[in-house]
Amino acid sequence: MKINGKNYTAVWMERGAVCMIDQKILPHEFKVVKFSNHKATARAITDMTVRGAGSIGVAAGFGAAQVVLEGADKTDRRSYFKKGFDTLRKARPTAQDPFAAISRIEFVIQGIVDPVALKQVALLEAQAISDEYVENGRKLGVFGNALIKKGATVLTHCNAGWLALQDWGSALAPIYAAHRAGKKVMVYADETRPRMQGMKLTAWELAQEGVPFAVIPDNAAAYYMRQGKIDLVITGADRIAMNGDAANKIGTYEKALCAKAHGIPFYIAAPLSTFDPQCRTGAEIPIEERSGDEVVFVTGRTAKGKTETVRVAPEGITALNPAFDVTPAHCITAFITNAGIVKPNQVKKLLN
Ligand code: MRU
Repeated sequence: MKINGKNYTAVWMERGAVCMIDQKILPHEFKVVKFSNHKATARAITDMTVRGAGSIGVAAGFGAAQVVLEGADKTDRRSYFKKGFDTLRKARPTAQDPFAAISRIEFVIQGIVDPVALKQVALLEAQAISDEYVENGRKLGVFGNALIKKGATVLTHCNAGWLALQDWGSALAPIYAAHRAGKKVMVYADETRPRMQGMKLTAWELAQEGVPFAVIPDNAAAYYMRQGKIDLVITGADRIAMNGDAANKIGTYEKALCAKAHGIPFYIAAPLSTFDPQCRTGAEIPIEERSGDEVVFVTGRTAKGKTETVRVAPEGITALNPAFDVTPAHCITAFITNAGIVKPNQVKKLLN
């Protein structure tokens, strides 16, 4: 991704610190923040300074490398590693990518005793994970682009672009590829209550890339589908079960039902690291419940350029905030993966 003429990824490592674009303050402010130990990195994942399945996968991989850097010289290093990896695993429970990244670090350091080698191997693996996300995002773009016709209008939900998968993105990668191929695509971006990833982040990215788009209220998708204004839907995913059920940002299921009712293809774009071989069906995917404060308060910029958070709901009410839902396999036309286009009933075979 290119911001103000400079190349960035969503997350990277510099001299032992995990650096990331602060996604909490975009689109009004662009700032890079650094976290010098794994506990701080885990907190940045939980509070969504970094978010999106792929980017939190990379952050967890670098965080796991920090655990190894911090613990390699300790006499009780194996218990330090275990505790540190557990802290990172607990940071956000729904996405599979952080679990996959941490397991990769755990695997490559097995049996190594030399502290210098431990650190080197962990750092190299974390960087390899990061590089793979960039390349996989590019491939999602290539495979997904083939599904987009000239002049198509694509509906997307949440932010599944640069910021969410290190560089190209998952759902937005095919759109970027189609746009660069001159296909004149148009995007409808769901605002994505309650944290507004669509309105804040997808809108910011699409504007940077010059893709024509409109933000629409979360509850407007069926209205536009019925008018024939949406040709296909592409979203990302946080965890995909072996039967083809897929968890993604809350509201995705509703869009999939609407698309099915209107005969509109519904695609999920995700790298293979998002598929969970241990998870048989969507019923086994843990759904993160976040604070109701994210529902009742809204943060934005005032006309005077000040960021303010205001309460919208009455005092003392209860607000529920499930961060994800599961779209059943029968609502998904196909998965766009870095290994090609895969039907929901082919998922198990693909991973075996
Ligand atoms: O809560 P978030 O913002 O991390 O949720 C992100 C999504 O739901 C994305 O669609 C998903 O992570 C796929 S993008 C790689």
